[in-house]
Amino acid sequence: MKKIIANFKMNKTATEMKQYLIKLISKFEDKCEAVLCVPYTCLSLAKFIVDGHDNIKVGAQNISEEEEGKCTGEISARMLKDSGASCVIVGHSERRAKFKENGKIINKKIKVALKNGLEVILCVGETLAERNTLKVADTLREQISEALKGLYENELENITIAYEPIWAIGSGKTPLVKDIEIVGKIIRKIVTEDYSAKAGEEIKVVYGGSVNTKNAATICRCKYIDGLLVGGACLDADGFAQILNTSI
Ligand code: PGA
Repeated sequence: MKKIIANFKMNKTATEMKQYLIKLISKFEDKCEAVLCVPYTCLSLAKFIVDGHDNIKVGAQNISEEEEGKCTGEISARMLKDSGASCVIVGHSERRAKFKENGKIINKKIKVALKNGLEVILCVGETLAERNTLKVADTLREQISEALKGLYENELENITIAYEPIWAIGSGKTPLVKDIEIVGKIIRKIVTEDYSAKAGEEIKVVYGGSVNTKNAATICRCKYIDGLLVGGACLDADGFAQILNTSI
């Protein structure tokens, strides 16, 4: 079953989310696993509304790297779990760039998430300059190895790697199918080298960056790709339901 992740980013109040989810659920045909990464303020409500739908999960978009205590304004792993999240996005390029999250912080966030029973969606991806200078494999190797440093192989079953080329996010541009497949293969090779052939084969890899109703089904069927991470196109319930129902 494909895994289709929605990243709502800083969009929708809890009131708006309620209407959205009721509509989305009424159209969802249960053909994929839907993971809804909503704002913190919508977590409990989203969990309550999707209750009973086994193929819909609720996730967060960020997590504190600290367990608890003197971190004003931060949200801990335990708080996320208790609010209904079963997973969390870590390492999104917006957090790397705007909030200065580096490989060390990302590694800490992943460890604290896993320790508290949350699955992790790890975002990685190259800039346009890195693509143009043929540095995609090097960039991904560094990002993945740093993020997963110190993790045991059996913990990888709770990690999904989201390949999100930075130049594709919100730009309306996507790589060619063949390029997504090449990168899917590269990511599996990196995991194989750091762990084992079995780990490289079994790690879940999804694609994100300008996925929409027109390209979702095609990208989802790419070799080496287990699903999608959808930003802007998840915000309309009708459109996102269409993506969910055709991404098989
Ligand atoms: P986009 O965003 O689908 O709007 O390009 C994807 C993301 O940032 O995760």
